[in-house]
Amino acid sequence: MNFVSENLAVNERGHLTVGGVDVMDLKEKYGTPLYVMDEDMIRSHLRTYREALNTYYNGNGLCQFASKAFCTKYMCNLVAEEGLGLDVVSGGELYTALSANFPADKICFHGNNKTKDELTFAIGHNVGTIVIDNIYELEQVNHIASDMGKIQNVIFRIKPGIDAHTHDFIMTGQIDSKFGFALETGEALSAVSLVKEKKHLCYQGLHCHIGSQIFDVKPFCEAARVMMAFIKEIKDKTGLVTEELDLGGGFGIRYVESDDPIAYDKYIKAVSREVKAQAEMLGVKIPKILMEPGRSVVAPAGITVYEVGCVKEIPNVRTYVSVDGGMADNPRYIMYGAEYSAVLANKAGEAAECTYTVAGKCCESGDILIEQAKLPKVEVGDTLCVLSTGAYNYSMASNYNRIPRPAVVMVSGGQDKLIVKRETYEDLIRNDL
Ligand SMILES: Cc1ncc(COP(=O)(O)O)c(C=O)c1O
Repeated sequence: MNFVSENLAVNERGHLTVGGVDVMDLKEKYGTPLYVMDEDMIRSHLRTYREALNTYYNGNGLCQFASKAFCTKYMCNLVAEEGLGLDVVSGGELYTALSANFPADKICFHGNNKTKDELTFAIGHNVGTIVIDNIYELEQVNHIASDMGKIQNVIFRIKPGIDAHTHDFIMTGQIDSKFGFALETGEALSAVSLVKEKKHLCYQGLHCHIGSQIFDVKPFCEAARVMMAFIKEIKDKTGLVTEELDLGGGFGIRYVESDDPIAYDKYIKAVSREVKAQAEMLGVKIPKILMEPGRSVVAPAGITVYEVGCVKEIPNVRTYVSVDGGMADNPRYIMYGAEYSAVLANKAGEAAECTYTVAGKCCESGDILIEQAKLPKVEVGDTLCVLSTGAYNYSMASNYNRIPRPAVVMVSGGQDKLIVKRETYEDLIRNDL
């Protein structure tokens, strides 16, 4: 049996296993809907990134897990134990990381509209780097750091003019993005030049993020070339030396059979070679490389387990299979038509000969999880698992229709561990006055 993720298999009972654990046992123990994550796979992905930087770039860099993909205290602990950094984009993600005692100097704070409170919180807790998104923020960070008598390391978010999504990438003006400073208008250079006047900011370098679910090293190499040319321009025109180059995240994973991801270390290898070659050619210092993978670390390691509550055949149209979750625990289909694969955990060894539309239970016609899922014949009570849901599912979940968020369970070495409790109805009204 071939699944989209290599940690999935069928056991002797004909049940789906994840990380060697029978999904039907997890269903019985924790109920549904349930997020299940494979810790061993997550750790192995984190190690791949760390080791690739050692192998191809003499360890002169740091991978920072993009916590927006999956942010819990347990995950922050895993990232810390594996020696990586963390990318956060809000006070809440930062708070989660600090509550897990994540080393603050390895945290990088992103966002296009960080509030004064969030910046004060971050600087007050000695966050390693703040990614400056706009001029107003540059002033604000300088002020807050000055009030606290600190000097804050900063890097600048740049729009490199490369728009890469899935299998293709295009060079665009890309001025029309809410994130960062445009290169081609000169906005980026003026912003970086200003840093010299700010006594409480220490210029460290540049950042760019070119897209998500990218399956090719070429756009990353192109981004590295553009950014290295800008590093040279900064040096020539301002005298500033760029110590760090953060090339963001975006490495693709397999959601459906047709997705064809490449090994993660290949991205690091290609980018490392490009940055070194450009530094030599341009005569600038070789910068420390930072990367921010999110999806590729956690998405393939996660599945969501549901129970089928109803099967509704509409003759000559389609057959809906409704599950006990939906857009509240996975809004990616309704947000941008994301594709997924599914398996019936209790019939995992049976041939997938029927096509169904998997729908959620929310009061929205668009509450679909999979438009055309290939499955064995589905019956009420079956256990349906949506695969590759480890990223941007739990972290994007809501309480729409006042549905409590599911629990999250980690499996490792054949054992399971509850890492986030299922929300209760009481949780839903906790803040109601
Ligand atoms: C700045 C930045 N870094 C990293 C990421 C992580 O991207 P991915 O999860 O595709 O690796 C994102 C995703 O939106 C991002 O905006």
